Amino acid sequence: MDHFVINGGNRLSGRLTIKGSKNATLPLMAAALLTDRPMVLTDVPDLADTRNMVGLLSELGCRIEFTPASSFNAAGGTMLLHAHDQSQSHARYEIVRTMRASICVLGPMLAKRGFARVSMPGGCAIGDRPVDLHLRGLEALGADVQLHQGDIIVRVPGGTNGRLKGARIFLGGPMGSTVLGTANVMSAATLAEGQSIIESAACEPEVVDLAKMLNAMGARIRGAGSPRIIVDGVESLGGTEHRVIPDRIEAGTYMCAAAMTNGDITLENCPSDALMAASDAFERIGLIFSPEQSVVGGVAAQSSTSRDPMRATVRVTCSRVLRPVEITTQPHPGFPTDIQAQIMALLCLADGNSIITERIYPERFLHVAELSRMGAKIVRQGSTAVVTGVRKLVGAQVMASDLRASACLVLAGLAAEGTTTINRVYHLDRGYESMEDRLRMLGASIERVCEKNPTNAHEVAAV
Ligand code: EPU
Repeated sequence: MDHFVINGGNRLSGRLTIKGSKNATLPLMAAALLTDRPMVLTDVPDLADTRNMVGLLSELGCRIEFTPASSFNAAGGTMLLHAHDQSQSHARYEIVRTMRASICVLGPMLAKRGFARVSMPGGCAIGDRPVDLHLRGLEALGADVQLHQGDIIVRVPGGTNGRLKGARIFLGGPMGSTVLGTANVMSAATLAEGQSIIESAACEPEVVDLAKMLNAMGARIRGAGSPRIIVDGVESLGGTEHRVIPDRIEAGTYMCAAAMTNGDITLENCPSDALMAASDAFERIGLIFSPEQSVVGGVAAQSSTSRDPMRATVRVTCSRVLRPVEITTQPHPGFPTDIQAQIMALLCLADGNSIITERIYPERFLHVAELSRMGAKIVRQGSTAVVTGVRKLVGAQVMASDLRASACLVLAGLAAEGTTTINRVYHLDRGYESMEDRLRMLGASIERVCEKNPTNAHEVAAV
């Protein structure tokens, strides 16, 4: 297993292009199963997760060609997907256990092929992660749902000739809505007979991006981005070309990196509009965001790239003293759970006590013990952590436990005094493309040390 060695203390500066979003890309790729026409995705990040999805979709009859980006500072590569063979509809445990997001093939396969068998994803380092809402949603659309030997088996009555039936579906759960559950049910409803109304739908930007692409393929979806999504079913969908939205979590992570190193980073392709809650917290802490201006004919104007609030150009700097804050993770548009670990690293250096409450995954705190090894002062009680700022973090050997916890440790290492070694960085490779190259480009001292005998690292249960 590879590890990172970071010599902390360097100030980061420079320009960085945010990659296409991992969590948008995975359901977009799965949507290729809804059509027998080819489709093209651009700005696709080159990640262990997207490669796992390529493996899964290939087994399910998709031909896929992926051309990664030519540079690690580009937004992503181009992927051609074509579901030409409908005969295989079994997502096997061997793949699903490497990537929980494999569940998002369930709805598209069911709707298009009338049958799907997907191994039930287990829990993972951040919690139990049930899929009951996905199944309830598909059942409401008329699917027959069974569990057999650890697999979910769903069928449309009438088989390949049958169709799902539009229905009113409630997707609210104890922690709010479900993002991939909404993606699954919305995708399936596009090919159902009649109208479906999804209540308590997830409002995440990744759901909006999926709806946008499905509509370009011929679907009739309204309301994505709000808690009520209305889908008028159509008989078939065509192909399309779609540009993936930028990754709001990657952007938030590099914003923390700028602040923790007293840096000055300009983010291009930055989805500012999708980061309102995080930006609000960052500003309260002391980060300064300046949308980039360009000078046109002597008059200051927003540069063409910064006009789209989902693809802005933003300079991130920071005041010298970081202020403590209180944050609670929530479904979008609330503060995202996927930035909780990273902001905790940042708050370790704030001047006072911060309170972080995790409302999506109450157990998502594996990074606390590792940060403590670096001198952080954090007390956790249940789903709340109290972070008392310290003057400095100190380099140490630490263990990455899941994707965002790993990012948090990298951030801590960048700011720490001395050397930090982060083991098990395969977690990072699932969600951050070329992180060490990108950080080095900004001035960090960070190296990947490749182990000679790679283990079955990618097979370890994934988030
Ligand atoms: N939940 C249920 N029942 C369900 C589904 C979810 O009770 O059937 C609960 C979950 O246990 C959790 C909450 O609802 O407490 C939200 O889970 P959700 O289903 O929204 O999560 P997800 O769709 O499986 C996606 C992202 C996660 C991100 C969450 C929340 C992808 C591939 N994954 O997961 O991303 O944390 O939404 O925003 O899109 C990550 O990138 O690090 C990551 C974990």
